[in-house]
This record gives sequence, structure tokens and C-alpha cells, in this order.
Amino acid sequence: MTLGIRPEGHDENPSITFYEAVGGHDTFVKLVDVFYRGVADDPVLKPMYPEEDLGPAKERLTLFLEQYWGGPTTYSETRGHPRLRQRHFPFHVNPDARDRWLRHMRTAVDELGLAPLHEETLWDYLQRAAHAMVNTFEETPS
Ligand code: HEM
Repeated sequence: MTLGIRPEGHDENPSITFYEAVGGHDTFVKLVDVFYRGVADDPVLKPMYPEEDLGPAKERLTLFLEQYWGGPTTYSETRGHPRLRQRHFPFHVNPDARDRWLRHMRTAVDELGLAPLHEETLWDYLQRAAHAMVNTFEETPS
């Protein structure tokens, strides 16, 4: 997927993907690393993760985001179709969980120091995706 960096076929330079434009693999690794640092310390989100070690979850999110933005398609090759809403059904994703998720993502996006248009594009997507993932309005069970 290419995302409006340069219109395809209207330039002597081949258009590049958003993935490449923001710095490729290193950028996505950093984004997800910083995000999971927040998750690890979050009393609502951390208990939702089935594995004590957040490493594998980190890897899945990195691969998914890389694929989404036009990088390698390893996510689908290893995990199949994303079906993200469905994959989140087992988890209690209420507005509080969503806002916490977004807060940790915001910190991570800020640390990347991207160009304003790239930052806005990424952040807009993350917000929409997080809102779409909400599957309950019940409070977090204690
Ligand atoms: C809104 C709040 C969200 C919460 C509380 C949440 C929580 C979780 C949890 C607990 C898991 C299981 C960990 C694992 O085993 O991988 C998971 C998996 C995952 N989440 Fe989320 N998530 C949220 C939003 C999102 C959003 C917005 C995206 C994408 C932009 C996303 C992408 C993923 C991916 C790719 C996986 C791994 C799916 C797989 O291949 O099994 N999540 N999430």
C-alpha cells in the first residue's frame, strides 16, 4: 500500500510507502517498544495480556503495523488474516482500556519525532482503530 507521499506514476521517482517514509523497521520497533513500556506498568491493560512475557505480543503488533503501512507482509504469513476486532473479543476493551491504550501510543508516537504530516496520519489511524476495537461499555471487572 502506498499512501499519498507521491502519486504513483506521476513522478520519475517511484513512490515510496508510508512504512519507508517514516523510517521502516526501526521506527515501528521503537513505536511498539515505547508503547509496551506503558502497557507493562498499566494496572488495567497489563492483566489483559495472556502471557507474562510481553515479547510475543510486541512482535505481533510490530508485524501488524509494518504490514498495514506497506512494509513486509510477515504478519499475514504467520498469523493469517488480521480480523482484529474478532481477535479482541476475548478481551474487555471498554472506553477506559481504549483511552489507556491510546495514552501509551501517544507517548510512543511523540518519541518518534516524525514530520507533522506523517505523525498526523499515523495518529489519526491509531485513534480510529482503537475506537473500532471497543467491544463493551461495561466497567473493567475487578
Ligand atoms: C483499544 C484498546 C486495545 C486493547 C486493550 C488491546 C489489547 C490487546 C490484547 C490483550 C491482545 C492480546 C495480546 C497478544 O497475545 O498479542 C491484543 C492483540 C493484538 N492487538 Fe490489540 N488492543 C487494543 C487495540 C488495538 C489496536 C487499535 C490495534 C491495531 C492498530 C491492535 C492490534 C493488535 C494486534 C495486531 C494483536 C495481535 C493479534 C494476533 O495476531 O493474535 N490492538 N490486543
